[in-house]
Amino acid sequence: MAHFQWNPTLSTRIDAVDREHRELLDLANRLQATIDDGRSAREISDLLSELATRERRHFAREEQLMQEQQFPGYADHKNAHDDLAAKLANVQERFRAEEPIGSMTLLAFLHDWLVTHIHSHDRALGEYLTQKAAESVLPAQKTLKDD
Ligand SMILES: [Fe+2]
Ligand SMILES: [Fe+2]
Repeated sequence: MAHFQWNPTLSTRIDAVDREHRELLDLANRLQATIDDGRSAREISDLLSELATRERRHFAREEQLMQEQQFPGYADHKNAHDDLAAKLANVQERFRAEEPIGSMTLLAFLHDWLVTHIHSHDRALGEYLTQKAAESVLPAQKTLKDD
């Protein structure tokens, strides 16, 4: 059974971001299954590289969105991305050095990397953008409320 399942609590209500999160969850499941099945180091290493590539692209997309929309939590969120990127680089490094990485350690890392980050940071960005979009399509109500 896949360890990482999409569920509505993970939704940020930003379609492009949610789509990439689903792809990252799928990739995390593939990585976990590859390790659980005792497949070759080459396959695991390739999946870690793919995860790192998609991570860079995904974080860049969110960071661009935050800057374009003047998200007030940008600095914190960017720091969290930098921290996660460093952790993934560390996992890759350890793997290259042939250090044993337990399946549970990797599972905990992937959970923290994906699920915890989505809940703690990405959803806050989604809420901010949803709120901002609602305010921009309802200028009359906003004016009334502000008066
Ligand atoms: Fe994200
Ligand atoms: Fe994020």
